[in-house]
Amino acid sequence: MLKACIFDLDGVLVDTAKYHFIAWQRLANQLNIEFTESDNEQLKGLSRDASITYILNKGNILLSEQDKQNYMAQKNEWYLALVNTMDASESLPNARELLITLKQHNVLIALGSASKNARLILEKTGLLSYFDSIVDGTRTSKSKPDPEVFLTAAKDLNIKPNEAIVFEDAISGIQAANDGGFLSLGIGSPQILTQAVWVYQDLTSLNFQALASLYNSKN
Ligand code: BG6
Ligand code: MG
Repeated sequence: MLKACIFDLDGVLVDTAKYHFIAWQRLANQLNIEFTESDNEQLKGLSRDASITYILNKGNILLSEQDKQNYMAQKNEWYLALVNTMDASESLPNARELLITLKQHNVLIALGSASKNARLILEKTGLLSYFDSIVDGTRTSKSKPDPEVFLTAAKDLNIKPNEAIVFEDAISGIQAANDGGFLSLGIGSPQILTQAVWVYQDLTSLNFQALASLYNSKN
């Protein structure tokens, strides 16, 4: 029986990738490094630290740890200014409805996100109250593709990985879910999320019944 659903946040429940893109691009430009949509795709799912490391490597720039921290803080300040404009209209189509039907069928709901801003974003978009467990960047030490974030959520919910579906839009997140023993459901393009068990363009066609039958088809 499907006992739990574990959701990534950015790109699955809310469209924050566009805000990360604006803030990282602004920082990269300041350092004279080109930052494209395809770079942004690579950063999906990575922690803030791993993201700046990617950008600095791309520009062949070596910084002291202190400078790196300062740039990360600057990026986050720009990012938060955008996040603070968010409201309930910025949850992705059918996200709220899906959480509601899962709750009605007693499916446990967890967040598995690398973001240290996850709670704030859930609050701003009015999604916080649906979650039985929140595992975010403040609770994990290993970045996706390490499965730590999802395994911690499974522990919180007191379920086994094979009793849950993980929803992810990032290549690294799909790998983390698969390596942790979860069933992975990709949100995005099947050409990019090639390792996911299932791929949907978005959440719009998903509800409890659809997920229960996907889950049962694999068990
Ligand atoms: C992930 C995003 O969810 O969170 C990444 O996909 C982001 O792009 C990461 O870098 C960390 O987010 P934050 O909010 O802690 O900077
Ligand atoms: Mg994501």
